[in-house]
Amino acid sequence: MKQVQDYIRTIVDFPHEGIMFRDVTTLFADPRGFRMAIDQVLHPYAGIDIDKVAGLEARGFIIGGAIAHQLSVGFVPVRKKGKLPGRTISQEYKLEYGEAIVEIHEDAIKPGEKVLLVDDLLATGGTAEAGIKLIERLGGEVVSTAFIIDLPDLGGRRRLEALGKEVLALCS
Ligand code: PRP
Ligand code: HPA
Repeated sequence: MKQVQDYIRTIVDFPHEGIMFRDVTTLFADPRGFRMAIDQVLHPYAGIDIDKVAGLEARGFIIGGAIAHQLSVGFVPVRKKGKLPGRTISQEYKLEYGEAIVEIHEDAIKPGEKVLLVDDLLATGGTAEAGIKLIERLGGEVVSTAFIIDLPDLGGRRRLEALGKEVLALCS
């Protein structure tokens, strides 16, 4: 039987020469693949108390929306700077070259709410760490983080675990 990783394609030299880009659009486009991925992300959270799912732009929105629906909880987007219309708080993080900023609506999470943070892929962990900081600055508790793909050589798991966060990933 096909596994989740079998639905993910690798694009060579995107977005730069030398990068092997893991493209999850082929996983999302396949009805069996997409359902399998969402079911597998959800499985460890059966019986765990979660108030909100937060997703990292952009592919974390696709996964996070489906997971929030299944858990019957709300979904909160963590967006790149300048996209959210309401009052926001911002967090800077490092990219391979330069820096970027992500934002969250300041009323999106209430103090004490338990949040599951999701994205398609964990590389250096910079984006996820910025998301965690935003949620925690609002008083939320990041109970776990979940990804379809972990690229272990890039150190994201170690970085998030050093913050005391659980990291679950379906494949590497
Ligand atoms: C990719 C990926 C994660 C992030 C992982 O998104 O979807 O969000 O990079 O990298 P990191 O662990 O090193 O932070 P990207 O920044 O390409 O943005 P996009 O989803 O808007 O294309
Ligand atoms: N795919 C998607 N996002 C990424 C990748 C990748 O292979 N590497 C770093 N961010």
